Amino acid sequence: MASIIGNIGGLTGLIYTVVLTMLFFSLALGPDDDAYGGEDSRERWDQRYDSEKYVYGKEPLEFLRNSISLLPRGKALVLAMGEGRNAVFLAEQDFDVEGCDISPVAIRKANKLAAERGVQLKAFEADLEEYKLEQEKYELITCFYYLQRDLIPEIKAALRPGGVVIMETYTVENLKIGLHGPKKREYLLEENELLRLFMDIGMKILFYRETVIDGEKAIASIIAERVE
Ligand SMILES: C[S@@+](CC[C@H](N)C(=O)[O-])C[C@H]1O[C@@H](n2cnc3c(N)ncnc32)[C@H](O)[C@@H]1O
Repeated sequence: MASIIGNIGGLTGLIYTVVLTMLFFSLALGPDDDAYGGEDSRERWDQRYDSEKYVYGKEPLEFLRNSISLLPRGKALVLAMGEGRNAVFLAEQDFDVEGCDISPVAIRKANKLAAERGVQLKAFEADLEEYKLEQEKYELITCFYYLQRDLIPEIKAALRPGGVVIMETYTVENLKIGLHGPKKREYLLEENELLRLFMDIGMKILFYRETVIDGEKAIASIIAERVE
């Protein structure tokens, strides 16, 4: 009897340990760990966004807001736009905005935010690992907190001459200090990587930084213009 109880206790202890470990990882890793695609991305992001609350808020990224004077007006494409905070801001600034995301729930919330603010937004569902960007179509392309390296050549080609790309996401330094963000190194920018990705003939770097914001997140940000 004692040994049966002992075994049950051991099993219960093991189950507790597994559950607590899973709980720890789900809390510690946070939502951004699956920010970068993967087969079950759509479902995970749908679940993440499935509430009335706007997970990333309704206000645009500070970098976008602060850079607005550098960005040429016209057609804008907001990649992996999430719940629309940046897309709606651009529409308010008189850009003609298209925004895409893999998550239908995100698209619905982006449309809701646009309606709330009384602006037009062409929001559509797209898996950027499959979707092909139209060439020479946009004055502005934004890509925030979504890193897909093989999309960069397409972004450049989708800009009209004189068009501008603005991008910001986590760097490897975030592994040391970040409260959120991906834990897999492949989903993080290496030192100077974002700069190198855009430093081509035909692209002019207008702004670049690698920094830590509020002691909370390590990021790289770039603004580059297609000049040819
Ligand atoms: C960290 S969130 C950033 C959202 C938005 N850029 C922002 O700053 O508020 C990453 C976004 O990428 C989207 N995403 C993930 N994989 C994608 C894919 N393969 N194609 C398009 N969007 C994707 C997710 O649905 C999510 O909205």
